[in-house]
Amino acid sequence: MGSPNHLCYNLAKDMPKRLNLSQEIEKQLPGELVNFMWMAGEIAHTRGEKLYLVGGVVRDLMLGQANLDLDLVVEGNAIELAQQLKKNIKGKITTHPRFNTAKLLWDNWSVDLTTARTETYEKPGALPQITPGSLDEDLGRRDFTINAMALGLNPGLYGKPIDPHGGRDDLKNKLIRVLHENSFIDDATRIWRGLRYEQRLDFHLEKKTLGFFKRDVDMLKTISADRTRYEIECILKEPYPEKVFIRAAELGVLPHLHPNLRGDDWLAEKFEQARKLSDPAPPEAGLYLALLAYPLAKEETERFISRLRLPKALAQILIDTAALKSKMRLMATPGLSPSGIFRLLEAYSSPAMVANSVATESPTASQNIHQYLTRLKYIEISLTGDDLIKMGVTTGPEIREIMERLQKARLDGEIASRDDEMALVQSWLTKQE
Ligand code: CTP
Repeated sequence: MGSPNHLCYNLAKDMPKRLNLSQEIEKQLPGELVNFMWMAGEIAHTRGEKLYLVGGVVRDLMLGQANLDLDLVVEGNAIELAQQLKKNIKGKITTHPRFNTAKLLWDNWSVDLTTARTETYEKPGALPQITPGSLDEDLGRRDFTINAMALGLNPGLYGKPIDPHGGRDDLKNKLIRVLHENSFIDDATRIWRGLRYEQRLDFHLEKKTLGFFKRDVDMLKTISADRTRYEIECILKEPYPEKVFIRAAELGVLPHLHPNLRGDDWLAEKFEQARKLSDPAPPEAGLYLALLAYPLAKEETERFISRLRLPKALAQILIDTAALKSKMRLMATPGLSPSGIFRLLEAYSSPAMVANSVATESPTASQNIHQYLTRLKYIEISLTGDDLIKMGVTTGPEIREIMERLQKARLDGEIASRDDEMALVQSWLTKQE
């Protein structure tokens, strides 16, 4: 499997270590966001505050990659600043007074505004205690050096990189590096995040970071089901999630989701097939998850569901997938009639069928599922219960029985029209007399 162009970050080798990145901002971000940042910098300045663009968007600007998720940090008061900005852009804001953060929304844009802060972790895995702080402190609490950079937005500082942890050098050398040795202990979701960035960007965990990573893998136990699920959801939105799972298997991370999951060539092949089937859209998370969980037995699937506290709809897809898996031998029967296929499949959700058609070793089973999804499930009979009563069928269970027999005949191609249906019912009624 080759990397497509949009994943080739050939960035940083040629990235000039310029003192100002305002040209990158201008080139890579839409005019509306650029104007907004100018304006926000000016307003913060008049308020005597310093405003910065931070985190992933700075990393991606340096990589020459599109990223419209603007995260702004203010040394000051984010909510008050957001309220003032709101008037200028005629937008809306939502606020979180406890964390002194705000989200600005206007037209199709959304920007997060946070008050610079320090974090202390009372115990591993817990959410941190937060107190207002400086930009330096704010950058110092972050996961990786490449995510711990900022660009000034105030007049005079506009586009100026602030890189206290050597993030630009790490971008250049394609390295994922934590800021301190207890980073994964403080927040073990960084274990998943590190793998996600490593595989997305085609980088490597830096040597010492890899040492801390291996030492601290077991800290994943400290992470709640909801936070773990969020990380997995983020991975499933990557262009090639299997790369993350394969690396996770290699580094002993995958068994923390379930010991019997596979992160290997089989998974890569199945995810690739899922993409081909869903093209041009990426596969739904449910389909990817069903394939990830496919190697699990029924009871193991249930454990996996509760490990991630999956929402009902996703859980149902996984349960259906496991139940349908046990019917794949029947589904592979040569010469299975269309009505037989219909009966085996009708109770299950579509992603569970697609997952089984991708994962089964039997081309016949796969074709039968395809036939159901593209044709059989749309076949309906024309006659209604009322029509049958008018024809002389007695009300009660017989109606349902006749309708099922009609549907079977339609599915198997024995009849093809309303007239055929009427003739068939008539012949059954005559036989009964
Ligand atoms: N961050 C962190 N530790 C975490 C989560 C987030 O330090 N466990 C910091 C990083 O600086 C990150 C920023 O918060 O860049 C924003 O988080 P998020 O939106 O998850 O990351 P991005 O890098 O912006 O986005 P993406 O992962 O999609 O590239």
